[in-house]
Amino acid sequence: MIIRILGSAAGGGFPQWNCNCRNCADVRAGKPGFRPRTQSSLAVSRDGKSWVLLNASPDLRQQINDTPALGSLAEGSLRNSPIKAAVLTNGDVDHIIGLINLREMEPLTVYGSDRVLATIAANAVFNVLDKGKVARRELPLDQPTNLAGADGPLGITVTAFAVPGKVALYLEDASKGANFGSEAGDTIGLEVRDEATGKAFYYVPGCAEVDARLGERLKGAALVLFDGTLYTDDEMLQAGLMPKTGKRMGHISISGPDGSIAAFAKLGVARKIYVHINNSNPVLNESSEPRKATEAAGWEVGYDGMEVRL
Ligand code: MLT
Ligand code: MN
Ligand code: ZN
Repeated sequence: MIIRILGSAAGGGFPQWNCNCRNCADVRAGKPGFRPRTQSSLAVSRDGKSWVLLNASPDLRQQINDTPALGSLAEGSLRNSPIKAAVLTNGDVDHIIGLINLREMEPLTVYGSDRVLATIAANAVFNVLDKGKVARRELPLDQPTNLAGADGPLGITVTAFAVPGKVALYLEDASKGANFGSEAGDTIGLEVRDEATGKAFYYVPGCAEVDARLGERLKGAALVLFDGTLYTDDEMLQAGLMPKTGKRMGHISISGPDGSIAAFAKLGVARKIYVHINNSNPVLNESSEPRKATEAAGWEVGYDGMEVRL
């Protein structure tokens, strides 16, 4: 199975269009040790020919153009695409807006939880994905789903599971209490399995907490791509960017006693890669102490174009 990080940044990307924070200013200036990053998405394939997107970011057009394997094939028909399906892990802007780029009458299957499919159904702009060609299929939680494009099975099985988190920012309802009306299925993680080899990895780009259930699930995994939004819970406040903590945004931090480095310390995961990294995160500075500490703890910091074979 080929796993390619199309976009390793969180919502806004790196640099973010309106952000003049230290990191964004440095990457914009081309300072060594800073890589630009597009918004959160992976592409997965068994054979390098048919591909599944895991999330569809607003930068999808650029990501496809930067990834020859995802472009229209020269030997193919007049209109063709190797992208056969897209699986959505939540309704966040950075994870669904790229669907709009997949219009133009191309057959495709879009998978999501009932909650996320309902969000898409409620927004008429997504009807640009021709309903006769683009199937929308519900991913039931905790049950394997064999992914298929319009031409048949893709050889990849996905099992969606609810993770601690919250509903998308634009759906938050303050009248519904501390969790803003969030329900199971608003944020999911995926186990992605190659049906031929049986090898699997986990993709969890948004997660508020590694609770006992999630820890048990991830224990001993060969590969986990995980929420690396913030390094410390209050880094956006400290930088004067936004009055929100990671906890308020539904994102666990990398560092600290409640952080993901600590939570994974005893899980025995063979390979751990951070994705969905916010532009405020000091790990984006390759010479920073937080970056060194993250790598010393056995984690890799994902980057656009990074490829893993499993
Ligand atoms: C998040 O990951 O928390 C969201 O993408 C934030 C946003 O919608 O800007
Ligand atoms: Mn996001
Ligand atoms: Zn910034």
